[in-house]
Formats: sequence, structure tokens, C-alpha cells
Amino acid sequence: MTEGGRINAAEETWTIRKVLEWTTAFFEKNGIDSPRLDAEVLLAHSLGVERIKLYMEIDRPLAEAERAPLRALVKRRAAREPAAYLVGEKEFYSLAFEVNENVLVPRPDTEFLVDAVLDRTGRGDAFTFVDVGTGSGCIAAAIAVNRPKASGLAVDVNPGAVEVAKRNFERHGLANRVKAVCGNLLEPAIAHFGGRKIDAVVSNPPYVTEEEFEKLEPEIRDHEPRSALLDIAEDGLGSFRAIADAAADLLSPGALFVCELGAGQYGSAAEFLASGPWTDVSAVRDYGGVDRVIVAGRK
Ligand SMILES: C[S@@+](CC[C@H](N)C(=O)[O-])C[C@H]1O[C@@H](n2cnc3c(N)ncnc32)[C@H](O)[C@@H]1O
Repeated sequence: MTEGGRINAAEETWTIRKVLEWTTAFFEKNGIDSPRLDAEVLLAHSLGVERIKLYMEIDRPLAEAERAPLRALVKRRAAREPAAYLVGEKEFYSLAFEVNENVLVPRPDTEFLVDAVLDRTGRGDAFTFVDVGTGSGCIAAAIAVNRPKASGLAVDVNPGAVEVAKRNFERHGLANRVKAVCGNLLEPAIAHFGGRKIDAVVSNPPYVTEEEFEKLEPEIRDHEPRSALLDIAEDGLGSFRAIADAAADLLSPGALFVCELGAGQYGSAAEFLASGPWTDVSAVRDYGGVDRVIVAGRK
């Protein structure tokens, strides 16, 4: 079936079904988490069709020219490059986002952060917010799409990420309401809002410790931006504390602070907020039962 570790062009008829089966088995052997899904995603991408189309034509033979682009993708995926980088896109909160090596691949758990904001605001509310460490812009965009009168500032220290976020805001028709800027934490917000107090600060900051970093899956450790993941504080809460302190100065009384955390960090994070001008501190659990998001109100 294979020749030199690749799908052999010559002796057999390679239908979509067979290519998917071969690729799934190859991914399984290489320790890929979701081998069938990734095989489908990569084949659909290389053929330029939706995944559903594969099933509509499952017994269609693929010409050599149709299989060739897949080979390079399969090789890179087997070397543990995230599928989202290979296809350049990831879905978050039912919206499609461009992603590349400059940004973290949006995670399903981060949708709980968006839920926390949407649960505490009304569709017609005209509020102002900052998304600190915006990456692909997925959080800011998901909030703005669902809160059509909200306006936001999306900050990232990585210029490459800011470019991706800008394109994603344009893609979702948000460029007039959500501005992406390069800068450190909340520093650009002071100029942007002209010294006025705002209604919400949200963030999914880096929170992985050095020790945890080494144990991450190769997809994350070797391919996603280290600066998006790693926090230099021993407890991984250095960025969180810096953002909370800066947010306390920027938020108006009653305003909202929502931040994603790593597993086991909620207790220390809540303790830190208890010593500051915060009230109604609570946690939102993720799919794995982890206190993933901390929510607080500015006193
Ligand atoms: C965990 S990623 C989150 C990306 C995106 N918000 C998401 O949820 O998918 C953290 C982001 O914070 C950015 N970042 C790290 N340090 C920063 C700083 N000092 N100021 C602004 N952004 C920073 C990184 O470049 C990265 O894009």
C-alpha cells in the first residue's frame, strides 16, 4: 500500500475512502489524537471542498494530481504540526478564524470566558472592553459579534498576532468597532480610551509554568508560540496579577474582569483579587471540571 512511506501513486485505485483509511492509520501510528478527523480535515482542505463533500463522493477515485498536495500536509501533521496551522483556520464560538504560527490555536475551553461575558451583558448593551493578549482575536470577535453595540480594543505584544487579529476583525465585519493594536498588557488602553474608565477587561493570558511547558504535547510545545503560553512566575500567575492590577485602574465601579486560568490556579488567583478592589469573585468550570475562568466585579 505504501512506497517510501507515502501513498503509492501507481498500482492501486485510490478512492477518497481508501485515502482516508490509509491516512487515519498512518496518523494513529504517529500518535495523533484525532486521526480520522484530521485525515478528513486535511483531505478536504487539499481538495478545496467541505468535509461533507468527501462523504458524498467517498468512492470517487482521486487522480495523482489531487493526492499530491495531501502528501506534504500528512507528513507535517505526522510530525505533530497542529492541523489548524496546516489549514490556516480554526472555528471558535461558531466563527471561523484565520490562524498561523504567530497565534495560539483557539481552544474550546476559552469559549467559557466568552460565555461569562455574554451571561453578564445584554445583547443591546453598548459597553467598552479590552481583550489583553488577543492572539487571533477570537475572544474579542466572539464578544463583539454577539454584542453588536459593544466596542473594544484588542492588544497583543506580538506584532504578527496583531496582523492576524486585524484580518479576523475585518473578516467578521468588526473593524469599525474592535481595534487591534500592538502593546504591553493594558498600556495602549489609556491612550485609546482617552483616560476614560471602561466596562470590561477580558484576557486569556500566558499561564503555563516552565515545569508544565516541558510536559506539553509536541503540537503545543514545539509549534505554538512560546510567548503565548509561558508565564515566568513560578505559579504561572504573573501575567494574571499584572493584568488584574492594571484593570483595577482602568475599570469603572461595577465593571467586569474576566480571565482564563490554568488548572489549579483559581485558589491563588481568587486570593489575590480578595486583597484588591474586587467583589463577587467567582469561577466558571470548563468541560473537564477545571475552574477555568475567574470573574470579578470592580468595587
Ligand atoms: C494564551 S494566548 C491567548 C490568545 C487568544 N486570546 C486566545 O484565547 O486564543 C496569550 C496571548 O497573550 C499575548 N501576550 C503575552 N504577553 C503579553 C503582554 N505583555 N502584553 C500583551 N499581550 C501579551 C501573546 O502574544 C498571546 O497572543
